Amino acid sequence: MKVLVTGGAGFIGSHIVDELLLQNFDVVVLDNLSTGSKENIPDRVTHYNMDIKDHLDLVFAQERPDIVIHQAAQVSVSFSMEYPGFDAEENIIGTVNLLEACVKYGVKKFVFASSAAVYGAPEYLPIGEEHSIHPLSYYGLSKSHAEHYIQMFSNTFGLNYTILRYSNVYGMRQNTKGEAGVVALFIDRALRGEALSVFGDGRQTRDFVFVKDVAKANVAACHDGDRKTLNISQGSKTSIVELIEELYLNIGESMMPSFQDERPGDIRHSLLSNREAEQCLHWNPSYTLSEGLQLTIDYCRSRQVQTY
Ligand SMILES: NC(=O)c1ccc[n+]([C@@H]2O[C@H](COP(=O)([O-])OP(=O)(O)OC[C@H]3O[C@@H](n4cnc5c(N)ncnc54)[C@H](O)[C@@H]3O)[C@@H](O)[C@H]2O)c1
Repeated sequence: MKVLVTGGAGFIGSHIVDELLLQNFDVVVLDNLSTGSKENIPDRVTHYNMDIKDHLDLVFAQERPDIVIHQAAQVSVSFSMEYPGFDAEENIIGTVNLLEACVKYGVKKFVFASSAAVYGAPEYLPIGEEHSIHPLSYYGLSKSHAEHYIQMFSNTFGLNYTILRYSNVYGMRQNTKGEAGVVALFIDRALRGEALSVFGDGRQTRDFVFVKDVAKANVAACHDGDRKTLNISQGSKTSIVELIEELYLNIGESMMPSFQDERPGDIRHSLLSNREAEQCLHWNPSYTLSEGLQLTIDYCRSRQVQTY
């Protein structure tokens, strides 16, 4: 079974590639390396340095993938607010271009990385998949439109799919520059002995899910969860203050964070129910926050040793 992973050189995509290889899939990566890195792609995996908006016949005719796992995207919420056109080109037009190639070349399944950002401000917690869709950013809007295109391609052409809406993903290889990477940013700062900045009182909560669990959900979606839209989350909430405590516990040191003004527009609490995913994918998150943080800290420490 051959799987094409778009964005396979990125944070989440590269862990999906690793998990697919572990489960003996043939894997091909399509990634333009705009935020990803070639060093994240194992040597034995063929990499097409291409854009999802490119003419994709070459790669699809050559590789004939059975499944496409689509992770490549413009991933920054704040960038989307500044450049909604670019965000739409990447996340809507890019996805439609890929869907057309999937139909033309008889791809059997399309697995898509969506986001909790499609929900907007929660009306209740935990958020189930039936929750209303009122995105607060162009990023959330473009992901929501991409979801609709996927569903319509399924209705029109019979393309099978699973849409996965991730909560806050953290783990090894996460870029400290993207704002999705609060954990990566905190670990980087803490290991350098710098104080952590917290917006507001730090009691706001997030649902942090470890990247290896997200990768396993994607691979499970290769054979389960047909035509489903599923939350992929830890299913538990952690406040920023608790995250910092857990992080310092793992590092073995501690420092008082500095508290800044609350950022306008920040959601106070976020928590996604993962019960549907548990049932449909026979999947559940297997790493506790403490375990995931420890692995991420070990990874960041080894990178710091390499850097200096
Ligand atoms: N990180 C999170 O917490 C989170 C949460 C919800 C959803 N997601 C979604 O998960 C997916 C992966 O995100 P990530 O955090 O790994 O980001 P990332 O930036 O590490 O990975 C994205 C990858 O896609 C590639 N890429 C970007 N635009 C491309 C294009 N036009 N053509 C080809 N390749 C392109 C990049 O080079 C990179 O390797 C994205 O779709 C993102 O929206 C992430």
